[in-house]
Amino acid sequence: MEHENETEQYHFKENSMSDKDGSVACVERASEEQLLARLEEILEEYKDKPGALIPVLQMAQSIFGYLPEVALKRISLMLNKSYSEVAGVVGFYSFFSTVPRGKHLIRVCLGTACYVRGGKRLLDTLKNELKIDVGATTEDGMFSLEVARCFGACGLAPTMMIDDDVIQRVKPMKIRTILEQYRSLPVKGA
Ligand code: FES
Repeated sequence: MEHENETEQYHFKENSMSDKDGSVACVERASEEQLLARLEEILEEYKDKPGALIPVLQMAQSIFGYLPEVALKRISLMLNKSYSEVAGVVGFYSFFSTVPRGKHLIRVCLGTACYVRGGKRLLDTLKNELKIDVGATTEDGMFSLEVARCFGACGLAPTMMIDDDVIQRVKPMKIRTILEQYRSLPVKGA
């Protein structure tokens, strides 16, 4: 009975790979030229809009999976901002990354509620299972592991996010099953 209840807590979205900006999930990876072409389309649309930098960076990260230098240079040019300003914004927000991430980003909540309800043990289990530390990516490029500070689901602690999915009341014994589910999903970033 308890087992069934735990399983129901998992908020697992089969189609979580689609991007809000219209870049679609696909098994094959696009070339850098194709990714840059998508970025160009976005820049054309946003270049004259005030406050465009952060939304454009978010969309660029969604397209590339991270923010490569070539994209930052293009953004800085098209939005008429200095490269150092763009790089400064990227460095300020932890959700931006200038290094490639795994196909799936795992973030474990270490906010107070989650911490006291087993968030640390959850993180240790993930580190053991993935054989990586926080901030690293698995050798096969499948998962990156990060920590976070509250997803607003404290009543259902401990929580973690995989990509856009919030997974609640996670039991360490369920980690392997959860990871297998994500391994079998189509990949993002094409
Ligand atoms: S402390 Fe983890 S969701 Fe709020």
